[in-house]
Amino acid sequence: MLLRMTGWVLLAGVAAATLGAPRAHAAGDPVLGEKKFYTCYGCHGVENYKNAYPDYSVPKLRHQHAAYIVSALKEYQSGDRPHATMHAQAASLSSQDIEDIAAYLQGPEPTKPTKTVGSVPPQVVQCGACHGENGSGVDAPLDPKPPVLAGQHADYIEQALAAYKSGRRKNVVMNGMAQLLKTDADIKIAAEYFAHQPSPLATATTSSK
Ligand code: HEC
Ligand code: HEC
Repeated sequence: MLLRMTGWVLLAGVAAATLGAPRAHAAGDPVLGEKKFYTCYGCHGVENYKNAYPDYSVPKLRHQHAAYIVSALKEYQSGDRPHATMHAQAASLSSQDIEDIAAYLQGPEPTKPTKTVGSVPPQVVQCGACHGENGSGVDAPLDPKPPVLAGQHADYIEQALAAYKSGRRKNVVMNGMAQLLKTDADIKIAAEYFAHQPSPLATATTSSK
């Protein structure tokens, strides 16, 4: 799997990606993380809550991988991901706050659904090396940690892919991978496919476990 992955990365011309053992993270405290998440419930704790202008769903965070939540928040802090609200939210967090929140959101290591719904469209065949055929991930320890895509909101996946493709959202791996989706229709097919897979993801409501 790692060999296959390395192949894809080279294919995309991404020589700088580091693949291998995950970096060590200071362990997060999920109990503290739940408390520190209180300002976030206003958007992430409401089912089907929408970002305004442009209009798309706020991503589901519950049971997403902790290591991915950490890197996403650091990318909003640094501006590698452009989003004014999330930049402001992330800027107020210390590294320890981020670890705690990520530990709370992930919870116990999610069980990986093994089923795939429908046939795999040609547009997403390459994505499986890192995200798994059904978007629930692969067993190899990859760094950076790819997010769970299965069951994420389709309109959120769609705008994330458009942002990687245009370079607005900066990530060496995904900036290359998004180029494989040639048209807006390809992006939509990929987003719909992953959104409809069986998923551990959920909206992080105050009562979600
Ligand atoms: C005003 C609404 C709002 C609030 C409050 C908010 N977020 Fe967000 N969050 C968003 C939106 C919208 C996105 C998608 C941004 C984008 O397109 O990159 C997002 C994205 C994220 C992501 C990336 C998820 C992924 O799948 O890549 C994480 C992690 C996150 N938020 C964590 C938090 C945390 C932690 C807090 C509280 C400290 C918080 N958010 C507060 C609206 C909000
Ligand atoms: C070489 C490994 C690799 C491959 C292949 C790959 N991805 Fe990714 N993907 C990642 C990583 C790592 C991230 C996290 C990037 C970041 O931090 O912004 C990511 C992030 C994403 C996100 C953002 C999700 C979110 O919650 O914001 C989407 C959507 C996505 N990938 C879709 C795809 C699609 C569709 C394909 C195939 C065309 C693909 N990926 C191929 C590694 C990969």
